[in-house]
Amino acid sequence: MKRSEVNDIMRAADEFIRSFGFILPPFAYWTPDEMKARRTSGIVDARLGWDITDYGQGDFAGKGLFLFTVRNGSEADLKRGGGMCYAEKIMISRQDQISPMHRHIVKAEDIINRGGATLALKLHNSDADGDVCQTTDVEVATDGVIRRQKAGDILRLAPGESVTLMPGNWHAFWGEGGDVLIGEVSTVNNDLTDNIFDEPIGRFSDIDEDVPPLHLLVSDYPKWLG
Ligand SMILES: [Fe+2]
Repeated sequence: MKRSEVNDIMRAADEFIRSFGFILPPFAYWTPDEMKARRTSGIVDARLGWDITDYGQGDFAGKGLFLFTVRNGSEADLKRGGGMCYAEKIMISRQDQISPMHRHIVKAEDIINRGGATLALKLHNSDADGDVCQTTDVEVATDGVIRRQKAGDILRLAPGESVTLMPGNWHAFWGEGGDVLIGEVSTVNNDLTDNIFDEPIGRFSDIDEDVPPLHLLVSDYPKWLG
């Protein structure tokens, strides 16, 4: 993706998120120079912040996701079984913009329709090898109510509704009929190791630096902050 496109997506996302009364935290608006000067470990090490991905495919509108990691706990706390074991993201799926089929190894996540259009999720179980199971029914909790559906069927969430996805639940999702603001409340999040995709794609974008960044992406931190 060109950096200019990333900047435009940031501006549009900020406006969309604010239109629902949700405001990003102060560090969202730090310039790259402020990020460098402060090098705040609580932000950089936890990989909080802007995350815009086309999954390395170069077609953001067709296959992509806007995310902002608002908080992320400690894997050490998770291992010892107490403390900050949780994470939160705010995300935007545009109409028919697909987040491709994937599962997590460690993370359980509540995916919440925070407003806008319908959030559609295609769901499968894992088979014995951990691959997408095409046969067994999927059972998921939607706001405490168990729903059972056929492998590969679409779960549709209206604003206010959510689904709890457990490790091993394969899922792909997109906005249906319009754009959707999505909340994610989850176990501690590690996007470097905990995303298994059904097709051979990447988790992050390759950036073509045609203009300076408005704000750094989480995936910029190693290169820009050292
Ligand atoms: Fe996921």
